Amino acid sequence: MSLRLGDIAPDFSAETTQGHINFHEWLGDSWGMLFSHPADFTPVCTTELGKTALLKGDFDKKGVKVIAISVDSLESHNRWVPDIEGVNGVKMNFPIIADPDKTVAEMYDMIHPNSSEKATVRSVFIIGPDKRIKLMLTYPASTGRNFQELLRVIDSLQLTAQYAVATPADWKDGDDAIVLPSISTADAIEKFPKGVREVKPYLRYTPQPNK
Ligand code: BEZ
Repeated sequence: MSLRLGDIAPDFSAETTQGHINFHEWLGDSWGMLFSHPADFTPVCTTELGKTALLKGDFDKKGVKVIAISVDSLESHNRWVPDIEGVNGVKMNFPIIADPDKTVAEMYDMIHPNSSEKATVRSVFIIGPDKRIKLMLTYPASTGRNFQELLRVIDSLQLTAQYAVATPADWKDGDDAIVLPSISTADAIEKFPKGVREVKPYLRYTPQPNK
């Protein structure tokens, strides 16, 4: 069964490079980012995991716990970690899930047989504190992800979870947000004391409410 936005992120227990975890317990009340990579000892994955380790402080500031997965064994992950650290000049500071029997990969529909029967594609799941899936992205093995974009999208998810706004194209933290179409302009003026700028009756901006 495929997962949809708003579904509860499936729970599982697994071995990781930082010990055994139960996923929901590990998430606790935090946001989470679960991301798959096709295989250990591959070039793009080595850069992605290093980049995530370098940006871990930024994920922490947003209250997001990060965790990677591939269908390799724990022994393989542990042999690969020194390469990731050496190439990227960083200590691995988040867990990588070992999933050699593909239990988690199948739960999350991370194996796309038209790409590969054996390996996961580059899936990203961002999960809210309510354990529900807020965002899913799928990249092919040949395209490394943009981790600044993942941080940007987390800003939008966290803002729109809290306020009756949406974020426009290319929005970044600090930019004006869009008032939800379901709110009348009269109500918006009350709700957003920093002001409402009407471009069209259906396109109204307000300064970012939590800044
Ligand atoms: C990589 O992670 O470098 C990779 C994995 C599979 C296919 C292409 C690239």
